[in-house]
Amino acid sequence: MKNILVTGGAGFIGSAFVRRMVEKYPEYNLIVLDKLTYAGNLDNLLPVHDEPNYRFERGDIAHRETVERVLEAYEVDTIVNFAAETHVDRSILEPDAFIHTDVVGVYILLDAARRLGVNRLHLVSTDEVYGSISEGFFREGDPLEPNSPYAASKAGGEMMARAYHVTYGLHTTVTRGSNTFGPYQYPEKIAPFFITEAIDNRPLPLYGDGMQVRDWLYVDDHCDAIDAVLHQGAPGEIYNVGGEHELHNIEVTRFILGALDRPESLIRYVADRPGHDRRYALTNDKIRADLGWTPQHTFEEAMRATVRWYQQNEWWWRKIKTGEYLEYYKAQYAGRLAGAQE
Ligand code: NAD
Ligand code: DAU
Repeated sequence: MKNILVTGGAGFIGSAFVRRMVEKYPEYNLIVLDKLTYAGNLDNLLPVHDEPNYRFERGDIAHRETVERVLEAYEVDTIVNFAAETHVDRSILEPDAFIHTDVVGVYILLDAARRLGVNRLHLVSTDEVYGSISEGFFREGDPLEPNSPYAASKAGGEMMARAYHVTYGLHTTVTRGSNTFGPYQYPEKIAPFFITEAIDNRPLPLYGDGMQVRDWLYVDDHCDAIDAVLHQGAPGEIYNVGGEHELHNIEVTRFILGALDRPESLIRYVADRPGHDRRYALTNDKIRADLGWTPQHTFEEAMRATVRWYQQNEWWWRKIKTGEYLEYYKAQYAGRLAGAQE
């Protein structure tokens, strides 16, 4: 590995990965290809802006000529794909972009990688491809039963990666990460959304009864797992990446309110997400046994650090919460909050 193309590297997890890799491996070149959608943000990459082993290219992973030009120009030998439309609620409102990027975009990357002789392609996927599980834990061989347009599009990308490995022998790997949180996360996902709303003493719209369960993974742990798979993962393999910390949404909400010293009266119970998965849970047995990776951060310590980061970095999120963000907020929450219960 020498020249690593990080697609979607201006988003939340991709930028964390680039910031870590640029510092940890000065012998690698990290090239980011990102379309800079509403979720892409060059502020996330400011800490590495002047590093000699970092480059940025703006472009769409679903645009074949762009992808091929970048692969050739930088003699890319490894692709790590973070680029995706990632928000379940947006996929319910408008699925088109999800098919474009998460399915067609992944296909274009795989096909360009095959034709230009790229050594390996890692696909960052999600535990949502499994669907919901009421008890026990998902394993890598379990059937995929995705329930949202987002989850289905990610499963589609995974299936193409599988086909390119089996049919053409491309060295592909996949990670299925759980709910990831940390600094620089776009404030539409529950953690950064509730943190920034609570800072401003605004209502927190909790869907349904707030008793849905998610497994929480700190962003640095997620990046370290991808690093481990890149260096030691076997071709064609899939690895679960869980935080080993399940919480009900109401517990996450209360933790955030406590960390900010805000009252629980900010919580509003609002109309549920259609098709809402009740519980995600997965086992790390495989990645632990094969690659020796386990999460290193506790939820409590990492979420407190995350809350502090949003308190100390209003410059980063206040300018996001304008324009298109407010239109989305209105479409997603205005009706819900009008009919809310405390
Ligand atoms: P994000 O929404 O913060 O960032 C996505 C990035 O992809 C943005 O920079 C955006 O500009 C870019 N992008 C979108 N469409 C593109 C296209 N067509 N071409 C090039 N770039 C494009 O996402 P995130 O939360 O950092 O997630 C990164 C990856 O991790 C995604 O593949 C997601 O499915 C997966 N994942 C996320 C989580 C989570 O909890 N956030 C958990 C598991 C897996
Ligand atoms: O599990 C991994 C997935 O985690 C990633 O693949 C996705 O990209 C990421 O968005 C996340 O999906 P979720 O749908 O679980 O995350 P979100 O933050 O949107 O919601 C977390 C839970 O909180 C979910 O049960 C819905 C609930 N929720 C969310 C929002 C935004 C609310 O109750 N109110 C809200 O306003």
